Amino acid sequence: MTSRELFERATRVIPGGVNSPVRAFNGVGGDPVYMVSGKGARMKTADGATLLDFCGSWGPLILGHARAEVVEAICTAAAEGTSFGTNTPREVEFAELLCEMIPSMKMVRLMSSGTEATMTALRLARGYTGRRKIIKFDGCYHGHADYLLVAAGSGLLTGGLSASAGVSPAAAAEMLVPAYNDLDAVNELVRTQGGDIAAIIVEPVAANMGLVPPAPGFLKGLREAADRCGALLIFDEVITGFRMGPGSYGMLAGVTPDLTCLGKIVGGGLPIGAVGGRADVMSKLAPLGPVYQAGTLSGNPVAVASGMATLKLLRQENPYPEMERRCKMLAEGVNALAKGQGVPMHCARLGSLFTPYFCANTVSNLADAKHCNTKAHAAFFHAMLDRGIYLPPSQFEVGFVSAAHADTDIDQFLQAAAASCKLDAVACV
Ligand SMILES: Cc1ncc(COP(=O)(O)O)c(C=O)c1O
Repeated sequence: MTSRELFERATRVIPGGVNSPVRAFNGVGGDPVYMVSGKGARMKTADGATLLDFCGSWGPLILGHARAEVVEAICTAAAEGTSFGTNTPREVEFAELLCEMIPSMKMVRLMSSGTEATMTALRLARGYTGRRKIIKFDGCYHGHADYLLVAAGSGLLTGGLSASAGVSPAAAAEMLVPAYNDLDAVNELVRTQGGDIAAIIVEPVAANMGLVPPAPGFLKGLREAADRCGALLIFDEVITGFRMGPGSYGMLAGVTPDLTCLGKIVGGGLPIGAVGGRADVMSKLAPLGPVYQAGTLSGNPVAVASGMATLKLLRQENPYPEMERRCKMLAEGVNALAKGQGVPMHCARLGSLFTPYFCANTVSNLADAKHCNTKAHAAFFHAMLDRGIYLPPSQFEVGFVSAAHADTDIDQFLQAAAASCKLDAVACV
């Protein structure tokens, strides 16, 4: 069956034909592609094409597809039993490993998705402080809990929504939404409403409106603002955790949050989420404390085995400098092409994350990102896809270089980009 035939069948039984909205290609047009297998940096489509993957399942696949040691760990765990609904030895070892690799996490609770992690962190912050309001930033995405779908990025932006239908106005009213990187706005909210604020939640590197690195001093300023009003600082590291180094981005930035949310990489490609942080805060979780959180498959032994194999490989092999060097090659190559061809675009990069933005100016918040030419991005996306390169299908997402990419893969990307970002092809659409 071709991708088109599969999608036609899917639209009859799955809303929009997809189980997560950005997969629908609404941001770029055309029919979504179905994958049948992946190995290393490449995926095979249902149509028989081989694609070089720069989406990496939206972040988890830092070691590439089907890395042998990870597959082996998954098979071993699955053969021993996929779920018990009881405690298992693996989850203890995994929790210890997470707390060791991110020392600000004195305790950690495992769950099954990043959404659960942020939802739990905010409930915990409210339970701990006895306050209700939350500062979240315009264009940051923290999963699909009701109140977090206000001014959210990722699929909402791609779909042109500022907030989801079905979110109660009361929940939305508790969210305070300054622009990313606008410390003055945060300080003003803390000055006027500080006594009501339970938490400041932030992606320490914004990666759901395209890539937006934190301005110098921004994260440190958030730490100070939270301390000033007695709110908790929550770093949502579902994308950045273990992405830039064998720990959190907070560690690299030298800013310690009260709570850290994890997902994606820590499951090595299987569903997982985690929240960890200060012991006095984490101790408020049931059964120790009054803040409830639970999950039938939380700490699932197969997901934990996959995550543990992934983290151990990352620690042993330290692929980070090479991933960063390759991503730099990619971004600098795209920037040189854009300049050479006079195309108003640039490639933002931090570590192994990148976004080709179809606008000339640096993007430092959502308003800047919205100035991009999304039609030009869509044309670029399809031109790259036609040349065997798979990118995230939206302007408002980040691309990922993995440890499985080689220099020759970056060359292949740049050759495709040279043909895809021609002025007449993309800038004039
Ligand atoms: C920063 C961030 N937080 C939370 C989430 C939600 O994670 P999940 O999709 O596993 O629920 C995402 C998903 O992309 C994310 O990028």
